[in-house]
Amino acid sequence: MQLAAMEPRLPELQAAQTRSPSDNSKQNNYEAGLIMSIAYLNGSYMPLEEARISPLDRGFLFGDGIYEVIPYYNGRSVGLIPHIQRMIDGLAAIEIDAGRSVEQWKTLLDDLVARNSDINHNLGVYVHVSRGADTKRFHAYPEGVEATVFAFCFAIKDPALVDRTAVTPVSVNTTQDLRWQRCHIKSTSLLGNVIHYQEGHSAGNGEILLYNADNQLTEASSSNAFIVKDGKIITPVQDNQILPGITRRIIIDSIKADGSLEIEERVVTMDEVHNADEIWVTSSSKEIAPVTSLDGKPVGNGEVGEVWEKAFSIYTNAKFDY
Ligand SMILES: Cc1ncc(COP(=O)(O)O)c(C=O)c1O
Repeated sequence: MQLAAMEPRLPELQAAQTRSPSDNSKQNNYEAGLIMSIAYLNGSYMPLEEARISPLDRGFLFGDGIYEVIPYYNGRSVGLIPHIQRMIDGLAAIEIDAGRSVEQWKTLLDDLVARNSDINHNLGVYVHVSRGADTKRFHAYPEGVEATVFAFCFAIKDPALVDRTAVTPVSVNTTQDLRWQRCHIKSTSLLGNVIHYQEGHSAGNGEILLYNADNQLTEASSSNAFIVKDGKIITPVQDNQILPGITRRIIIDSIKADGSLEIEERVVTMDEVHNADEIWVTSSSKEIAPVTSLDGKPVGNGEVGEVWEKAFSIYTNAKFDY
């Protein structure tokens, strides 16, 4: 009886399906599985549910591939070319030839977003290139195997308001970074990140901050990290310990171009993290998320900071220029 009570009634379903395209409820419909998304797989478009790959695909067997996630708000992308360039660099680093230029990737992704515009006004595009399907399971890179190219869209939320009293903050805990030494490559082998994310999630947090063997901040399990001390924004240097985040890059470049805030890339110790006035975690889906709780203790005064609001305003005004 309880189960029957939970099932949506037919008129409610019909009403949900006929709401206007600009209506945010489309996101709910999509999440409820009422709208089919269109995926791209190896040159063809198809309903996501119909996309099939071989179990011998090296992406499946070894996590042998590169991926990207690119946000589009009302059809406008953020950092599309830097995202494509990072993917091309990652593919080159692991010697996968996907045979597409920046312009060809752009056309493919813009086209996929256009085909999925009925899902939601804001979309994330996931694009995944693996080394392809071999005829055996053998570690060495095979020859003559074509890369598998897969992409699909999913609904993403409206950006947060530039208002420190309205934004929902994130809580985090900390742990030693036990991933690999090639975190600058956006590899589909994400088990190290997944295990760390789960450690945060199981502790009731939205992210987990990671530090290396020298007690220096690296990044978070699915985002880059920033701290603020005495008005200055500081983020770890770009090296093999962190992903070259596109959001991180847009924040640094737009804040430098604006000139009203100080920002520095340098080593950040965990002592500094624990004594920071503000902490942020950043990614294409989170944008700049303020952190107000660290290992169960308040960050600074426990409220979203003023520097966050200024930085988020600069980022929001600049993000479509990248
Ligand atoms: C480990 C890690 N660091 C940082 C980021 C942020 O990168 P971007 O801003 O390009 O989304 C991500 C995003 O997926 C990530 O997984």
